[in-house]
Formats: sequence, C-alpha cells, structure tokens
Amino acid sequence: MTYVVTDNCIKCRFTDCVEVCPVDCFYEGENMLVIHPDECIDCGVCVPECPADAIFPDTDPTVGADWLRLNHDYADKWPNITRKKPPLPDADQLNGTPDKLRFFSPEPGEGDA
Ligand code: SF4
Ligand code: F3S
Repeated sequence: MTYVVTDNCIKCRFTDCVEVCPVDCFYEGENMLVIHPDECIDCGVCVPECPADAIFPDTDPTVGADWLRLNHDYADKWPNITRKKPPLPDADQLNGTPDKLRFFSPEPGEGDA
C-alpha cells in the first residue's frame, strides 16, 4: 500500500503536505505534487494537512490504478520537495473543481531549489 496524490491537487498545489512527511517522499510538478509509492511508509499524517483533500491511500475505492501509475511515473521524473511554498495563484478558486486531470502538466516543478 501507499498513499497517492490525486486530481484535486492539480492547479492548487498547496504544499502543506510536504512539511509533515517523515520520509520526504513528495515530488513537484509544474502544477501538482506526487508521492513516490516506493518511499511512502503509509503513515497517513499528510492526509489531514491537505486543504484540497487530494491525498488518499491507494486502497481507497475512489482511487484508480491510473493515479498510482501517475504518482509512480512522475516521482521518478520530478524534483523532490520538502519545504512549503505559496500555493498556485488560483488555488482557492479551483479547489474542488471537477475533473482537473484535463489541466495536468507533465513538466517538472522547481522542487526545493
Ligand atoms: Fe509521507 Fe506519510 Fe504521507 Fe506517505 S503517508 S506521503 S510517508 S506523510
Ligand atoms: Fe497538493 Fe494537497 Fe499537497 S493540494 S501539494 S496534496 S497539500
């Protein structure tokens, strides 16, 4: 099992989650974060920190295999992030918008740099 970041992180990217992760397993894309499934220790402490309620265990029935694959694929490509930064500009307005996968960017973020 692992936890995964899902749809509602896209274009919000609040980053509260990274501050509490004991193993620093969040990776930053241009408009969302992902969790590295091989590094997550399933502690669950990031879940209540996310203002967008975007983090779920991969065993949750609402989380499809595609989200696990996306987290795995992009955790290998994007830089590590361990420090909170300001959310994306429209984060509050877009929090809760349905079907945000259409906005997904495969480009990397800046990480802690
Ligand atoms: Fe990190 Fe724990 Fe969240 Fe996994 S469940 S990403 S180890 S805080
Ligand atoms: Fe995304 Fe929530 Fe973290 S919006 S960046 S998973 S705090």
